Amino acid sequence: MRRWLIAACCAGLCLAAHAAPAPAPGKAQRMQWFADAKFGIFIHYGIYSVDGVAESWSFFDDKIPYADYMKQLKGFTASHYDPQAWADLIRQSGARYAVLTSKHHDGVALWDTKQGLNVVKDTPAKRDLVAPFVAALRRDGLKVGLYYSLIDWSSPDYPAFTKTKTRYDIRNDPARWNRFVAYYQNQLRDLMDRYNPDLYWFDGDWEHSAGEWHAKQTHDMIFAHNPGAIVNSRLPGYGDYGTPEQGVPIVRPPQPYWELCMTINDSWGWQPQDRAFKTPDELIRILTDTLAMGGNLLLDIGPRADGTIPREEVSALKQIGQWIGRNRDAVYGTRAGIPKDYYYGDSDVSPDGRTLYLFVTGKPIGPLLVKGLKNRVLGARVLGSGAAATTRLSGKWSSTGAPGLLYIDVPDGALDPVVTTVALRLDGPLALFHPDAKTGAGG
Ligand code: GLC
Repeated sequence: MRRWLIAACCAGLCLAAHAAPAPAPGKAQRMQWFADAKFGIFIHYGIYSVDGVAESWSFFDDKIPYADYMKQLKGFTASHYDPQAWADLIRQSGARYAVLTSKHHDGVALWDTKQGLNVVKDTPAKRDLVAPFVAALRRDGLKVGLYYSLIDWSSPDYPAFTKTKTRYDIRNDPARWNRFVAYYQNQLRDLMDRYNPDLYWFDGDWEHSAGEWHAKQTHDMIFAHNPGAIVNSRLPGYGDYGTPEQGVPIVRPPQPYWELCMTINDSWGWQPQDRAFKTPDELIRILTDTLAMGGNLLLDIGPRADGTIPREEVSALKQIGQWIGRNRDAVYGTRAGIPKDYYYGDSDVSPDGRTLYLFVTGKPIGPLLVKGLKNRVLGARVLGSGAAATTRLSGKWSSTGAPGLLYIDVPDGALDPVVTTVALRLDGPLALFHPDAKTGAGG
């Protein structure tokens, strides 16, 4: 870590702890909206919410028989499904995009597929649930992501069925496997033609290699159709960004772009016994932690089979939205913050690099402290209230180049009930001091 820290400081702009390989220019342009969005909502909606069992895994892991799992088809009504209300809630949450499970590993698609199981022909919902949601998101100015599972444990041509039962080995019957590949690629082509999503969120890649999935062909097909599309890392070998799952990364993931996908409780889909809801405060702190490492947060909710969204989830989304509303400058378009050695907390940086945002959880004991900031601070204010914070520099030492200790007093009355953001306006692009840097005193 130390080596790149010095290198980055010598280069003038030290965002070191967060250094990641620079993306190719074309890609940077394509990824712009995603990198700026910072917050998205993941929705696991499917027949598993009828009985409230784990999506697909409940039968795969032999927790319940396949036949019982599939009985849920008969109970999937989507009777109160209100895609516009979903989209409006997502917009209110401050998210800039959403990702809907168009087909999970169980193979039950939410739209009218030509082949395979789907909610239009196989459930009392009897209608395409993807189309109106896509339209509602677009009406609300939100980007459209569709989750698509490469795995299809219900397809007769898919090798795996459950963890103990396999239909066949693809080495012994490549023609059958090729039939499956054609089947999934046809479904994808159909998804593309109908909805032209901005983002393809693949899943289930782990059961086969990139070659077996014909991943390059799939990638080329998507980009021939939409050169501006974004694909997550679960199309092996061809992903645009990393997808750490559940655990908040401890250090910044290696990919230049990444997105933490995380459940709001401990389940992806609706499971009524799961009351382990993360509190809005916790979620906001997870968001600032993600921002500090330059990533996006894709927060998952699980609607009931009738299409209603649990109260706790609605309330958490609204509270996150209110927080983002007060702190929007420190969210959208920001880049990773400064290493924790410099500020003992989460931080991020404005797109022009000239504002450093410090996140403060709860009530600070004494002034905040930033070490090693080479810039002069032109002003400090608290986002939301706009209240001024006072700064004081102590111990600047010219012979070593040490920029001194920057103390920031935040008035009690300006503190946010959850996480306060202090914006430091700098005299130029953020520059940090490191004593080992070779550029003379202070680097
Ligand atoms: C995992 C699980 C799946 C879930 C997904 C979301 O891959 O298999 O159930 O939909 O994570 O990221």
